[in-house]
Amino acid sequence: MRFQTALSLVAALAPAVFGQLLEGTAVGPTTALSAKSTICNVLDYGGVADGATDIGPAITKAFACVTAAKNGATLYVPEGNYLISTGVVLNAGSNWAFQLDGLITLDVAGSFSGNAIVIKRATNLEMYSSNGKGAIQGNGYQVRISGSSQNARLLRFMNCTNYSVHDLFLIDSPTFHLIHNNAVNMETYHITIRGGNKGGLDGLDLICDSNCYLHHIEVTNRDECISVKTPSKNVLIEDIYCNQSGGMSIGSLDAGNGGSEIEYIHMRRINVYQCTQMLMIKTWPGGTGAVGYVRNSIFEDFWAYDTTYALDIDQYWYSHTTPNTGAIALSNLVFSNWTGTVDNGISRGPIVIRGSDVVPLTNITLEDFSMWTVNKDRVVLQCNNVYGTGYCARELASGATPTAFSSTVTITTTMSGFTSPTSPAWGVAGYGTTQSIPVYTPAALWGSVAAAEAATSIKTSTSTKATSTATTLATKKTSTTASSASATITATTIRTRGGPGGRGGPWRA
Ligand SMILES: *[C@@H]1O[C@H](CO)[C@@H](O)[C@H](O)[C@H]1NC(C)=O
Ligand SMILES: *[C@@H]1O[C@H](CO)[C@@H](O)[C@H](O)[C@H]1NC(C)=O
Ligand SMILES: *[C@@H]1O[C@H](CO)[C@@H](O)[C@H](O)[C@H]1NC(C)=O
Ligand SMILES: *[C@@H]1O[C@H](CO)[C@@H](O)[C@H](O)[C@H]1NC(C)=O
Ligand SMILES: *[C@@H]1O[C@H](CO)[C@@H](O)[C@H](O)[C@H]1NC(C)=O
Repeated sequence: MRFQTALSLVAALAPAVFGQLLEGTAVGPTTALSAKSTICNVLDYGGVADGATDIGPAITKAFACVTAAKNGATLYVPEGNYLISTGVVLNAGSNWAFQLDGLITLDVAGSFSGNAIVIKRATNLEMYSSNGKGAIQGNGYQVRISGSSQNARLLRFMNCTNYSVHDLFLIDSPTFHLIHNNAVNMETYHITIRGGNKGGLDGLDLICDSNCYLHHIEVTNRDECISVKTPSKNVLIEDIYCNQSGGMSIGSLDAGNGGSEIEYIHMRRINVYQCTQMLMIKTWPGGTGAVGYVRNSIFEDFWAYDTTYALDIDQYWYSHTTPNTGAIALSNLVFSNWTGTVDNGISRGPIVIRGSDVVPLTNITLEDFSMWTVNKDRVVLQCNNVYGTGYCARELASGATPTAFSSTVTITTTMSGFTSPTSPAWGVAGYGTTQSIPVYTPAALWGSVAAAEAATSIKTSTSTKATSTATTLATKKTSTTASSASATITATTIRTRGGPGGRGGPWRA
């Protein structure tokens, strides 16, 4: 269950390259499942697959069996329907697996102290489903209807090292779905998250102390798809599907609250369907001068079908404009090869950067955007205080001090290389906020999508290998050409679906 990320090529190109997993340090558990052979089955500890008996105490007792085992052990929840009414905290296990082959449903009247299942300070852990049925159903819609204050996150990892989480469904949390706090050498993949159509229901929140690899994750919701929080470094996130979601994000980062530290983040092959944004970096002003950073990161191969915002950087997020005395410094960021459509290219064009007046963005590369607008006849790119290359960024003369400025680029023919995106099979309208969200339907994308992408993607933990980004960057040709005379595409004809997440949906307000 282990793969190597050591890439000598990366070392050779090191000075010009960033956004990598740690060279030579693997992610995931350090021993195979076969070594975790003591089986601690919840059914032997009071668990009953009747959908009515609280499985919380049985999980806690089975975990005691795991920690008592001399060699590796597996906490096993067999196929079946279970109820959980009390939250569990599984602390300090090592050399173990959590094989969730059943469906655990949260009791709407349960007592969780904020989390249904917490795994803390684990090392060498693999949490997974072997039969494709491992799931946690939060029934958040019942909580929303009843107005109950129950607000359990479904699954949370804290201070774990050398672990993986894979092949699980996390459905309809009353709040966030999957959280990694202070992760080290972590891999998460083949995760399907479906949440309600409202804010506050984040898909996956990440704080990565070092070396985290997220891939093949699908999120349907109306808040963040995957959100990287501070501090985080050495993160690779790829092959992500954000369906009707908030989209990808970094933040929120508050300059008034000490330094944020985020670097060596690499996101690529991010697909968004009718999201609020493709990627947002959101910070609040405060402090004095540069307070912390987001730097040395790459965001490439983003694709959108009718997104509200595309690249959206806001250093005065949520109308926080004071005290305008300092900001998180954003520098050495590459945004490359973004394709697809925004909804309204005039008010929310493919690039909208509202950078700090006090600490302008520096060394920003904007290249190969091939995007167009669904509803308007042109796109407007807006940069406030962005130094670097491409589109609305301004080059900073050598030795010059960056000062505040605004720049707008209006493009009236389709952007170079634009092709109209087609609606993906995984993106269709459906969920609201007060109806049950299905666990197993539609099937997880892994299989169909993963097979189609076999050439570039990772399917199973036994055959994985993170591919180098070094060559991509080293050979990428910078293109700052803003427009072309390519054939006009009537953008308004490409919309084929609407639904609750469609144009005019609540998030476009
Ligand atoms: C600017 O960013 C590029 C990557 O686009 C990096 O190679 C270079 O070292 C950065 N320059 C400075 C002065 O940090
Ligand atoms: C988790 O890690 C953070 C950062 O290293 C540390 O501040 C915190 O005390 C740790 N918590 C636990 C429960 O080990
Ligand atoms: C994590 O795995 C690495 C080997 O990849 C090992 O050196 C390190 O000690 C492990 N950390 C813990 C906390 O077990
Ligand atoms: C641009 O990204 C798309 C995925 O959105 C990918 O299919 C394509 O190969 C990328 N193009 C380049 C030149 O890397
Ligand atoms: C995408 O989201 C819609 C809800 O808006 C849902 O009906 C559809 O099943 C989702 N697709 C997947 C693969 O979950």
